[in-house]
Amino acid sequence: MTVHIGAAPGDIAETVLMPGDPYRARWAAETFLTDAKLVNEVRGMLGYTGFWNGNRVTIHGSGMGMPSLSIYANELIRDYGAKTLIRIGSCGGMQPQVKIRDVILAMTATSLSTPSSGIFKEMNFAPCADWSLLKAAYDATADTKVGVHVGGIYSSDVFYDERPDLNEQLTRHGVLGVEMEAAELYNLAARYSVRALAILTVSDHLQTHEALPSDQREKSFGDMVEIALRAAFP
Ligand code: HPA
Repeated sequence: MTVHIGAAPGDIAETVLMPGDPYRARWAAETFLTDAKLVNEVRGMLGYTGFWNGNRVTIHGSGMGMPSLSIYANELIRDYGAKTLIRIGSCGGMQPQVKIRDVILAMTATSLSTPSSGIFKEMNFAPCADWSLLKAAYDATADTKVGVHVGGIYSSDVFYDERPDLNEQLTRHGVLGVEMEAAELYNLAARYSVRALAILTVSDHLQTHEALPSDQREKSFGDMVEIALRAAFP
């Protein structure tokens, strides 16, 4: 057990999928895994371990924002030996070619600050995805009908952003979408020599102000889980 995870040693698989929402972790485990066992429910942050095509996998919530994700990813990596961590989440689209429901594979994640900023100080470290996972995820999308984009995203500290000018500059520099977790996941993966990737569904759009209808959210989330599992176990 760790401070925030009640799982016994060995209860967590080396491959961990991380949705922000713990109920999504439960839905994904019930929908995609066999023999799924609840391994954590401390503070309602649900984690399940089971099997997909014979491969052992854990699906564990990260919560919203980098401070929350950092707590769970730190403990999963350092205390439970997680080696492959894939965030499955949503993002706001920032480019005209990025449509609602499209999937973004985050090659790199820009940020104003992360929980690791204290380490890097004046350094602008460039957190990036693991290449083998990124390639496998891209290959896994080849036979799906989902629109796919590979490139940079923005990991923001705020959802209700008072700095729209920053978003404009990022859009101008080709950033595909905004979410709130990936940059720190990539920082931690680099620090502990593990593999990480963020796979994101475009749930809303900063320019068009469209949003994914709620009845399509589950389907989009399911598509992402499938891409993540196929990327982890190609
Ligand atoms: N901003 C930040 N995070 C998000 C957004 C957004 O517009 N959409 C989904 N996650």
